Amino acid sequence: MTVVLRREEMPAWSRYIQDICGVHLDDSKGYLLETRLGSLLVEVNASSFSELVQKAKADRTTRLRNKIIEAITTNETSFFRDSAPFDLLRHKLIPDLIDKRSSNGGRVTLRIWSAACSTGQEAYSTGIVLKELLGDLSRYDIRILGTDISNKVVAHASYGEYNRLEVERGLSPDAVARHFIRSGDRWKIRDEIRAMASFRTMNLLEPFSFPTPFDIIFCRNVAIYFTDPDRTRLFQNLAKCLAKDGGLIIGATESISGFCQELEPKRYLRSVFYQRKQ
Ligand SMILES: C[S@@+](CC[C@H](N)C(=O)[O-])C[C@H]1O[C@@H](n2cnc3c(N)ncnc32)[C@H](O)[C@@H]1O
Repeated sequence: MTVVLRREEMPAWSRYIQDICGVHLDDSKGYLLETRLGSLLVEVNASSFSELVQKAKADRTTRLRNKIIEAITTNETSFFRDSAPFDLLRHKLIPDLIDKRSSNGGRVTLRIWSAACSTGQEAYSTGIVLKELLGDLSRYDIRILGTDISNKVVAHASYGEYNRLEVERGLSPDAVARHFIRSGDRWKIRDEIRAMASFRTMNLLEPFSFPTPFDIIFCRNVAIYFTDPDRTRLFQNLAKCLAKDGGLIIGATESISGFCQELEPKRYLRSVFYQRKQ
């Protein structure tokens, strides 16, 4: 039997979801909780949404909390999603950074972060661009970090294996053959690209800092779910982690204007990226 989310239960749920992952659900999103959490109610034997939220808050293992995060967040992604940011990488950001970093001799270092990486396609698309552009990657010290709040998608990203539908979304058959190894109906990213990447769980709304700044940060299609104050906090924190000459890339339908004074937009062909104000 379907358990209905009562109108008066919604405020507690909105607050709880916003607290655990920043996703803002207004009163019209009750149906989303009903459809996405219905099976969890059955699994934990909760007879109402109020009981489920109480159980989640009381659960010290955070297992239930993680299951709720996984049910509520949208993990939609694909290889080379929106293409323009990857043209920007290929034709502008990477060549500019390599030029600057090569001038002082030694091995060129690049640090890239796919924040809210979902199942890893954004991080590996970046790896593919780097491989195609630079050829012999052993001449460079390149690290790509992928982070996401969901353990489940981080595990998938880390494994680096995809089904036919996933590789066909955004990759040509040629690119699949060049960069993946097929095993039955699964395709695994090749070791040379996999070796550049590491993945870990991280909530973008909790305080974060890194020992070295990033040359490129992708933070696409996640802040759209946050409230304005959370967006402001996120972009200000990202600005602090960006190298002086680094670039922040956000989603095609997103803007940070009004959210972060420290960053200014730069245009290249069809793309906009953000750099720290000099
Ligand atoms: C729509 S996907 C975007 C994936 C990829 N960046 C892209 O544009 O294709 C949004 C991702 O944000 C993650 N997410 C949601 N809230 C988050 C938070 N507070 N911290 C980190 N990741 C979060 C979700 O788990 C999901 O994988």
